[in-house]
Amino acid sequence: MQKDLLDWFDQNKRLLPWRVERTPYRTWISEIMLQQTRVETVIPYFLRWMEKFPDIAALAESDEQTVLKCWEGLGYYHRARSLHHTAITINQTMDGIFPSDPKVMQKLPGIGRYTAGAIASIGFGIPAAALDGNIRRIYSRTGDISLPQRTSECEKILWNMAEELLDPDRPGDYNEALMDLGNAVCTSTNPHCESCPITSFCLAYRNHTVAIRPVQTAV
Ligand code: ADE
Repeated sequence: MQKDLLDWFDQNKRLLPWRVERTPYRTWISEIMLQQTRVETVIPYFLRWMEKFPDIAALAESDEQTVLKCWEGLGYYHRARSLHHTAITINQTMDGIFPSDPKVMQKLPGIGRYTAGAIASIGFGIPAAALDGNIRRIYSRTGDISLPQRTSECEKILWNMAEELLDPDRPGDYNEALMDLGNAVCTSTNPHCESCPITSFCLAYRNHTVAIRPVQTAV
């Protein structure tokens, strides 16, 4: 599955500014911006941010008003304040170097299990799993998981799949390939199974259950 997915990614990946030069800092900023905001909206903000604050030191040395001004319009302003504070912390206590260990990353504000996995894999090339909404949907379908989404049992299974199926040689590309597949092909409604590179590995496709996976959490 990994090879077919990565071949598809090499042909179909979205050209996004944070994919041009993949550093931990650029991945961190883009992942925080993308937490609550759509890709299309983030692009101009990301480009402007990188012009103003090209690295951790530049961000740490700036004042909060300048940082908030650069974020204006993106919403959820605690994200900008937290990026600024974290840059100062990294400068003061970590020699200005972004930590590469996902466990250490998760101690920083705004960085949970998903974001730590994304930064580790994309920014550092470390084999770390990342599970976001798109990837949850894909694994619910490939594994034909009948447990309700977001229950702890289901989460455990999906994180295990994400860890076991991760491509150890290209972990960042692998995670981004799933994000792009979920965005363009394995969509929540009207998925395009006819153009999916991994239908031969997809149990829901085989069992004709794609439309009812993932199972929504009972209300
Ligand atoms: N959403 C969150 N991270 C992303 C990434 N690296 N590429 C595309 N969409 C994303």
